[in-house]
Amino acid sequence: MVTSSRVTAVLRGEGGNWGRMWTTWSVVGGIQPVPETILIADDHESSLWGLEGLLSAEGFTVLTAQDGEAALAELERGRPDLLLLDVKMPRLSGFDVCRQIKSDVETRLIPVILITGMTATADRLAGIEAGADDFLTKPVDREQLLARVRSLLRQKAYTDELERAEAVLFALARSIEGKDPHTEGHCERLAELSGRLGEFIGLEGPKVQALRRAGIVHDIGKVAVPDHVLLKPGPLTPEERALVQRHPVVGEGICAPLKSFQLVLPIIRHHHEKMDGSGYPDGLKGKSIPMTARVLQIVDVYDALIAARPYKKAMPSAEALAVMEGEVWRGWWDAEVFTAFVEMLGSEGVRVRRMARAAAAD
Ligand SMILES: [Fe+2]
Repeated sequence: MVTSSRVTAVLRGEGGNWGRMWTTWSVVGGIQPVPETILIADDHESSLWGLEGLLSAEGFTVLTAQDGEAALAELERGRPDLLLLDVKMPRLSGFDVCRQIKSDVETRLIPVILITGMTATADRLAGIEAGADDFLTKPVDREQLLARVRSLLRQKAYTDELERAEAVLFALARSIEGKDPHTEGHCERLAELSGRLGEFIGLEGPKVQALRRAGIVHDIGKVAVPDHVLLKPGPLTPEERALVQRHPVVGEGICAPLKSFQLVLPIIRHHHEKMDGSGYPDGLKGKSIPMTARVLQIVDVYDALIAARPYKKAMPSAEALAVMEGEVWRGWWDAEVFTAFVEMLGSEGVRVRRMARAAAAD
């Protein structure tokens, strides 16, 4: 059994081509740079050691495994930045390992290169189906290997940077939610339920994803509202209300620099509009309010009604829907989206009752 060789590989890499391999984040952050880690899985010791030596000499940290199951175990332990998988391996093939990596939300963004035989067209098709990012043909050419590895690692560094930026926004949003212990869990429920409602009414994938993100960050602009206003138990003065009502615009501004949040921005900005134009910040009317914002606000209102607060008891789901129906008639919420929501809840009765209980317990 070939063992993991992170430390020896790092030592062997001294004097190698380090400079090109530090992630952007490490350089910008001024943090001690860490070499990128590559996991190689191959049951042929000679090719395994050949690849390991080559990549170690280039300064990468290299982990190794001799079959598919060992590769998955090593993936769990070492969190590599890229995988090189031989297609034919005992226990689990390269395809199986690749399929598992690409179907797990935690690992799906790790690039996978499959190593196939010279004329294996069928292997390539199966590899594409399994979600592989690239292929190399045996015997592996050194220059091709390094070019592909570096290109995929560059892409991954950008993705990682983006994920870190999203993680910061989510953490900020949760810290604002955490200021009020009575709203705990609201964002998570909102993200889940509005994503499901988006799917239910047939919105395309990117908009559903935007709804899930907006569920977490929609109130991020409240960071600009002073605590004595945000947590005030009694009615707000007109000045205080004006401060609170800035939060959609402030939130949009906070998230605007993130390109991956472009579909989230209209949801953040317009989640307090009303169909009759009496909402804020822009007083938009009817269908000029983006559909995604109309979806989020239905779920937002519902979750607020079914949750217990110091000043009110948790409302049973049916009662909450009756209140909302009245508000639809007053011209506040979209009647079609509301109808779809009621229909969706009807078909998900058990799940919703569980959610209502969780909201009541917060
Ligand atoms: Fe809000």
